[in-house]
Amino acid sequence: MSGSPATVDGRALRVALLGCGTVGSEVARLLTEQADEFAARAGAPVELAGIAVRRPDKHPELPAHLLTADAAALVESDVDVVVELVGGIEPTLEWLLSALRRGKSVVTANKALLAEHTAELAEAADASGADLYFEASVAGAIPLLRPLRESLAGDRITRVMGIVNGTTNFILSAMDSTGAGYAETLDEASRLGYAEADPTADVDGYDAASKAAILASLAFHTRVTASDVHREGIAGVTASDIGAAKLLGRTVKLLAICERVTSEDGTESVSARVHPVMIPRSHQLAGVGGAFNAVYVEADAAGELMFYGQGAGGSPTASAVLGDLVAVARNRVVGGRGPRESAHAGLRVRPMGQTPTRYHISLDVADRAGVLAQVAQVFAAHDVSIATVRQRDKHSTASLVIVTHLAQDAALQATVDEIGKLDVVREVVSVMRVEGED
Ligand code: NDP
Ligand code: HSE
Repeated sequence: MSGSPATVDGRALRVALLGCGTVGSEVARLLTEQADEFAARAGAPVELAGIAVRRPDKHPELPAHLLTADAAALVESDVDVVVELVGGIEPTLEWLLSALRRGKSVVTANKALLAEHTAELAEAADASGADLYFEASVAGAIPLLRPLRESLAGDRITRVMGIVNGTTNFILSAMDSTGAGYAETLDEASRLGYAEADPTADVDGYDAASKAAILASLAFHTRVTASDVHREGIAGVTASDIGAAKLLGRTVKLLAICERVTSEDGTESVSARVHPVMIPRSHQLAGVGGAFNAVYVEADAAGELMFYGQGAGGSPTASAVLGDLVAVARNRVVGGRGPRESAHAGLRVRPMGQTPTRYHISLDVADRAGVLAQVAQVFAAHDVSIATVRQRDKHSTASLVIVTHLAQDAALQATVDEIGKLDVVREVVSVMRVEGED
């Protein structure tokens, strides 16, 4: 594929591409079109040795001699690197373990797999000395994992918070600008091709939870899996929530929030969660609209950092995959290895109930003496401190908007449950966590 000189061991780097769909087809195209440029950057020619797809007959655009439906055999053949762009856990886990055990480096964008099986994959890579790179698995084109794994490796990261799912960001941005409800906006997003035919992984927060697990693991040097991440999607976000947020100069975003939490006795733990939040419209993440991603990182020495760009799509994601492939090739040429898994801290992952959060609660209440006192009494009973209260008179009722200080999430939930049962409360209009106002 390239006329450049061979690698130090006398031949080109042979790449197996597993999957040639949205992302894989762009990887194949760029690798082919820019072969000479790529070889110069990688320090060795890179040869596409085979492409595994589910239905080879459906790919007349690809060279027939490269195509196979047998990914496992391709992995076992004479290839140096496996680029996995199929997705899912089975059978991809077996293919990648097979590659790593044979000393073949792996580049993958598969967040679902990494969020559950990084430990096994990293152990297999360590045993054989192969590389495991996965920049494209979180936030598409945005260089984010390499900064966490390498550039910030000497710092102490305290928080990683961001918009890591483009589909839900598109839907929430549209709800904010049109005032329309969730179901109607999801239909529109599907019609425009922004939401998948089956949007479950995106709208129910599974995709973002996988990404949060990967981010928390890297940021806090601790193994965090998707099942450790508290997950709430956007299906429960109503036009009333969006309206309540707007009235207070806020907007609603689905955020992945990974934090280092220090207890009063100095013990550190990790909290990882995905849920809708209200943030001030002046917050850096509030201006991130449409299908874009943005991630905000706080570290002791570096301070605040912001990463922004296209979090999905064939070509943007291929950019991250090819960056990893260049890194693997360079390591092969000079004989080094990429960063290994760093899980030495082994911090405890806090359950959501013990995580400090703040709530925004909008209520319609009876407009008579003593109502505010009754409501405040419930907060006090759960040891939840109120930060602000705003009241607006309606006809026979009053609209009450309460924002709390930080409290344990379980105490806040219990407060909301009890308030909803008070006779004086006509309706709980909106309940949502608040971020970005500490
Ligand atoms: P697609 O569904 O577009 O492509 C999947 C590819 O895998 C297809 O070529 C398919 O073959 C092939 N395939 C499926 N099953 C097998 C099998 N058993 N053996 C061999 N090949 C198989 O997926 P995407 O390109 O969208 O995503 C790929 C990965 O990248 C996923 O892990 C995804 O999470 C991740 N990712 C995707 C992003 C995006 O914007 N799309 C962004 C960031 C990450 P065939 O073509 O014959 O059906
Ligand atoms: N479905 C994902 C999104 C693709 O909407 O952001 C990128 O991982």
